[in-house]
Amino acid sequence: MTKMQLFDSLPLLRATLAAYKLHGKTVGLVPTMGNLHAGHLALVATARAQCDVVITTIFVNPLQFGPNEDLARYPRSFAADIKNLEQSACDVLYAPTTTEIYPHGTVVHTKISVPELSTLHCGYTRPGHFDGVCTVVAKLFNIIQPDKAFFGYKDYQQFHLISTMVSDLQIPLQVHGIATMRESSGLALSSRNVYLSTTDRNNAAALYATLQESALQIMGGEHNFRQIEARASGTLNKVGLKTDYVHICNRSTLHLASIGDTDLIILAAVYAGTTRLIDNIFVQITI
Ligand code: PAJ
Repeated sequence: MTKMQLFDSLPLLRATLAAYKLHGKTVGLVPTMGNLHAGHLALVATARAQCDVVITTIFVNPLQFGPNEDLARYPRSFAADIKNLEQSACDVLYAPTTTEIYPHGTVVHTKISVPELSTLHCGYTRPGHFDGVCTVVAKLFNIIQPDKAFFGYKDYQQFHLISTMVSDLQIPLQVHGIATMRESSGLALSSRNVYLSTTDRNNAAALYATLQESALQIMGGEHNFRQIEARASGTLNKVGLKTDYVHICNRSTLHLASIGDTDLIILAAVYAGTTRLIDNIFVQITI
């Protein structure tokens, strides 16, 4: 196992990256907020398989948290993260301070926005969230200039927004999406799962099960999408979750699907206790 290099400031990181580039190495980037689990490590493994050099970033980005969200208590497990990344043969870990990423603070700051997409679905409940995500990811792309960047489909709206940003801003890199890693109950792995009580965790398993049911209804020929969404929301509420939204969307626009759309995704967000969970499922239909 080669030793992972750890950087918390830019100049040394830049010099190291320049040396890799000079030697013609391809660089793969996996941006994270830490508290790594098997979903994050699957991204690292995919990057490992596709790139000469793998860089993971750990940065809990204040710009993407709303005023009443969990920035202060966001789970952090830096020592364990380092071990996991070393075991995953990650080459470089960049874990910057907030001042390095936002030297002039987060208020007066250039922001990147993908306006139409950032107010839909999760963006409706979390105003400003996706501007924060796009801004920090754009900064990481500029700092690291990777050939490929890897994101989870678990946060599909995020994946879609970042892909759109890369295309709109003509950033020369490829964005890759990775399938969602789940617990055996179907619950998608998430850093925030540590907040769940035993009851919340049991209830939370209904999220993916309900998405699967809705997918089966669509594939079985039911095409009244709004009715299927309402039924799924009802089911989720009945098992003790609180539905934020269930939206059946066209997967390439993320607009609500209408009859004739064939490549679909069902996006959903619920609260289990006070913890917000998101998940999704792809649905392909033939007409
Ligand atoms: P974070 O929640 O730490 O997630 C980092 C990456 O891991 C994201 O691309 C996310 O989609 C992916 N991921 C999370 N859970 C997953 C799972 N169960 N299976 C597969 N992939 C999973 O997403 C963020 O951080 C931030 O918004 C970030 C992009 C780093 C910008 O701050």
